[in-house]
Amino acid sequence: MKFPAEPFRIKVVEPITTTTRKQRDKLIEKAGYNIFLLPAESIFIDLLTDSGTSAMSDEQWAGMMLGDESYAGSKNYYHFEETIKNIFGFEHIIPTHQGRVAENLLFSTILKKGDVVPNNIHFDTTRANVEYHKAIALDCVIDEGLDPDSEHPFKGNIDIKKVEEVIKKYGVQNIPLIMITITNNSGGGQPVSMANIREVSTLAKSYNIPLIFDACRFAENCFFIKEREEGYADKSVLEIAKELFSLGDGCTMSAKKDGLVNIGGFLAINDQQLAQKITNMLILIEGFSTYGGLAGRDLEAISRGLKEVLNEDYLLFRINQTRFLGESMIENNIPIVRPIGGHAVYIDAKRMLPHIPQSQFPGQALVVELYREAGIRAVEIGSLMFAHEDEQSGKINYPKLELVRLAIPRRVYTNMHMQYVSEALNQINKKKASIKGLKILYQAQFLRHFTAKLAPVD
Ligand code: F0G
Repeated sequence: MKFPAEPFRIKVVEPITTTTRKQRDKLIEKAGYNIFLLPAESIFIDLLTDSGTSAMSDEQWAGMMLGDESYAGSKNYYHFEETIKNIFGFEHIIPTHQGRVAENLLFSTILKKGDVVPNNIHFDTTRANVEYHKAIALDCVIDEGLDPDSEHPFKGNIDIKKVEEVIKKYGVQNIPLIMITITNNSGGGQPVSMANIREVSTLAKSYNIPLIFDACRFAENCFFIKEREEGYADKSVLEIAKELFSLGDGCTMSAKKDGLVNIGGFLAINDQQLAQKITNMLILIEGFSTYGGLAGRDLEAISRGLKEVLNEDYLLFRINQTRFLGESMIENNIPIVRPIGGHAVYIDAKRMLPHIPQSQFPGQALVVELYREAGIRAVEIGSLMFAHEDEQSGKINYPKLELVRLAIPRRVYTNMHMQYVSEALNQINKKKASIKGLKILYQAQFLRHFTAKLAPVD
């Protein structure tokens, strides 16, 4: 079997709009060739993100009707707490309305100016939350994790030597925590092995530094461990998750990914004093400790989603759906980051469109073409997002990679939709020489990719 069929059947449908090429040409021109500025209704297949875009199950929707909206002590909070304690094993469970709030609460409580936080690769919001507190976010992923051609099975692993050097250089008193992001989103959705987590945990313990996971995609990471790491084939994904989290002291989580919900998150930690401080802050900015910015019904949906995400028929389908899309691209000679990650396929746009220089945004040019050709929305992770002027020389620093991410929402699209995406890319690949680069007409000073206006180069 090349890939497993969807382990669910469809009970409710949400129609999606088809548009003509002519309509899309007009819409993208009006949006300044920026897919963030398109109305979502004009998109046929939306692969902008896997965050908050999951389809909930009948069990979750039934749970929504059991929402207890009491200000304090909602029964749904107790379900939420019990489920998280069972899977993650941490003592104190603090609900938040999404992942970055959990990061903000944690960092605003424990970071001081000049502190250093090592991670495999910090996700954008994690980095921003560290840097906002005038601390330093350091990426310590293994070298293979930065090489799009390396077939290393655990490209999200941390390089222990790099972390040891960081501790020696900055001093243990300036490192209030070590983080590991599972799976490593900014490195292509690549997993971290149990052996690597154990090594980092031993190192962290020897210096008495807490180890905190960014657990957004923990179930996908644990599934990769089962598939790829010796000794785990016969363990359940739940058992693997329990073992993995027993090696750390807490986690931040955006439930918008492996919580299978559209909004929500949490912070889970063992340290009682820290939990108390954070809870006090939570009450100030999010809400009381038994809802943290969420409705009771949302807590129930998360509680049920966290159990469902560990279903191995679901995970087999999930990982293989992404793999199926990636492999069909490899067959069609479309260059992608390998091995194929958990939640997304990343196209190497620099290699696919070598006639477009980085100054003309090859990644964004491909994103625009995907929309025009087939109504598909992907996102550029390249020069539009990261290129910046060097303050001293005035020269533009370009990122090493020009990637286009096709992130796959959970339980939303069928394998036939994936085949449609694959065929659209195949058609584009055949006429790629005709794709033109882009130039910027307007840009904001920060995070310009969200609002920039562009136009095709003549
Ligand atoms: N950590 C990781 C690894 C993430 O991928 C994200 C979000 C967050 C933290 C923040 O969570 O959005 O709930 O506040 N990633 C989304 C993405 C936005 O498209 O990859 P949040």
